[in-house]
Amino acid sequence: MNVLTHFVPAFETLKTPFYFYDMDLLRRTAAACKDAMNRYGYQAHYALKANANEPVLKVMREAGFGADCVSGNEVLWAIENGFPPEKIVYSGVGKTDVEINHAIAHRIFCINCESTQEIDVVNGLAAAAGTTVDVSVRLNPDIDPHTHEYITTGLEENKFGVSPWEFGRLAEKLKAAAHLRLVALHVHVGSQITDLPVFRHLCERLNDLQDLLRNYDIQVEHLNLGGGLGVDYADPDGHPVVDFKGYFDLIHRYLKVRSRQTVHVEPGRSLVAQCGSVITRVLYVKNGQKKNFVVVDAGMTDLLRPALYQAQHAIQQLSSQASPGRYDVVGPICESGDCFGKNISLPQTQRGDIIAIRSAGAYGQTMAMQYNLRDLPPAYYSNNIDI
Ligand code: LLP
Repeated sequence: MNVLTHFVPAFETLKTPFYFYDMDLLRRTAAACKDAMNRYGYQAHYALKANANEPVLKVMREAGFGADCVSGNEVLWAIENGFPPEKIVYSGVGKTDVEINHAIAHRIFCINCESTQEIDVVNGLAAAAGTTVDVSVRLNPDIDPHTHEYITTGLEENKFGVSPWEFGRLAEKLKAAAHLRLVALHVHVGSQITDLPVFRHLCERLNDLQDLLRNYDIQVEHLNLGGGLGVDYADPDGHPVVDFKGYFDLIHRYLKVRSRQTVHVEPGRSLVAQCGSVITRVLYVKNGQKKNFVVVDAGMTDLLRPALYQAQHAIQQLSSQASPGRYDVVGPICESGDCFGKNISLPQTQRGDIIAIRSAGAYGQTMAMQYNLRDLPPAYYSNNIDI
């Protein structure tokens, strides 16, 4: 039984497309994450880039999560939404001076430096502001996360972080940086990682890198493992909440935590993907000789993941229970890549039927764009939609 069926009468009355968020599932997911990590005293910073809507942020903040940001505007938005600055981390390979200055002025938990040059720049800006700044260094552990190449970030060939061959230089820079205090080491090797042994490998690699850095007299109070835990796009109803316990148990088992060190994580997708759907209406059904197309009013502008990463989101027709047919489900944009799924089994579908594209809570709305001068769709939340 589809959990969205209950809301179809409300969906029928609304202009499509729109994003719909199941707030009860969001709360349950946040609680499951919290329970699993509290057993080990870990700290989580929710990755705002996955979904930065105010009601979503409220749930995250109330669950006690900090914020993981990747732009100056995300830092400011997190603060505006009540995240305490001392729980905000800020990463990114290309921070501007203006963005760094904001982060310095708000005294966030730490700025994650991604290169040895950035150490110099942040130190210079801190000196100019007459202050000392807490930073972490993002390491590039050269690990293959077994995910799509566009969301792989921890390989030597990727632009992120500082590689072990630079550690000598890193140590010199840090020694010379009188206005910085190194508080953490950071890694984030990729996103939508469903192969859990990747995280074991990451922990083991971080253990080695910590040993190596000790030779340079570099020691820290915090270890930040980043985000990356994947969700089940094929079966969102079967696996609405990811196995946080398995993930944190694995970290606890394989990461060597030194005395007085705290472990941090930056989950995004695993907290918000499954609670969101794109709700769209069928505009046309085109029966062809080779294929049948269902043309819906949502497009790649509203959910870019299938076009950009060949992601397969579950597609469900909510209006009828007719016998199944096979369809390519496509959007209205003038691009052949504007396709949500090929050869999808749906009940025989007609103009006006309502379709849900599932697992769109992460990197759906935040990646929406206005190509073709389209409107940005609104969002509705299960706790205040009329049914
Ligand atoms: N920390 C850092 C430094 C990150 O770059 C990211 C995601 C995260 C945490 C959160 O990762 P998550 O737990 O969500 O996997 N647009 C792509 C995903 C890009 C992820 C970018 N970084 C997608 O739709 O799959």
